[in-house]
Amino acid sequence: PATLRVAVLGCGVVGTEVVRGLLDNAVELRSRTGTQLDLVGIGVRSTATPRDAVVPVDLLTEDLTGLVERADLVIELMGGIEPARALILDALAAGASVVTANKALLAQHGPTLYEAADASRVDLFYEAAVAGAVPVVRGVRESLAGDKITRVLGIVNGTTNYILDEMTSNGLDFGTALAQAQDLGYAEADPTADVEGFDAAAKATILASLAFHSRTSMDDVPVQGITSITPEDISAAAQTGHVIKMLAIAEQGEHDGIRGLAVRVHPALVPETHPLASVRGPYNAVFVEAEAAGTLMFYGAGAGGAATSSAVLGDVVAAARDRVNGGKAPSESAHAALPAMPAQAV
Ligand code: HSE
Repeated sequence: PATLRVAVLGCGVVGTEVVRGLLDNAVELRSRTGTQLDLVGIGVRSTATPRDAVVPVDLLTEDLTGLVERADLVIELMGGIEPARALILDALAAGASVVTANKALLAQHGPTLYEAADASRVDLFYEAAVAGAVPVVRGVRESLAGDKITRVLGIVNGTTNYILDEMTSNGLDFGTALAQAQDLGYAEADPTADVEGFDAAAKATILASLAFHSRTSMDDVPVQGITSITPEDISAAAQTGHVIKMLAIAEQGEHDGIRGLAVRVHPALVPETHPLASVRGPYNAVFVEAEAAGTLMFYGAGAGGAATSSAVLGDVVAAARDRVNGGKAPSESAHAALPAMPAQAV
């Protein structure tokens, strides 16, 4: 097609940066995809909310359903379950490709969404849902598709890593560090999801599904956040050569003779010599152990509008190329069901 009609749903921190990227990089995006990406609308809850000057006011609309009907490619950056879920299903059913950063939605309703995308033979891409700019979704789904992953250890929440790092390196208290993370645009609208570990649990669910070809549900993931970590805990860890990091862990193991998958999120003592210990500020890292590849670490900016928009736009390019080529990427929905297992110590 000469043009692809692109709709953006949501115009918060990430949505604004994606709009900026679509407009500023229009020439590059055209040459990389072979088609003109025509931004036809930006769906928002209220057109009256003040916006960054980069956002074309005439493209704002509160009619999200109508906007989805006019699009070939829908970029969902609203977050939350509804109406994002219904809008994505509408888009997929109508044959539009979808790019989303919505980790909570994928963690809760991933299988339904992947099946809807497969039924319509269109792409559903979500690189930005895990670890922001870090290409770990594609890395695990594609680059390691021929290997057997045995364990995944991730720092996948920028806000909590920033808070723990500020407490460790600069002696900040929890509240001050959290306020700074919010000012810098790392935290969720409700930072409870960050500090209680639920945001990391959603990402752990997505990573575990990909790495172990399983249908992992958030309900299978025990979660402990960082709200009770004290400066005393941090100094005690330092005295034995450790740092405290909130880790998302997914590994295969045996329980009562049944082979299965265990996924969990909790603060952990990481030896100062481990590569994950050097992950600072809002950065994320996913440490993957695979049978043939050995150990790998995917590392980079895990939160923030500009960094996350890089992953979104990468997916937009991939989805647009697939439409230009008349096909879609191979199905990811053929998950063999692996039983979920109770949490166990590493
Ligand atoms: N609140 C999230 C974080 C944003 O701090 O990592 C990126 O998903």
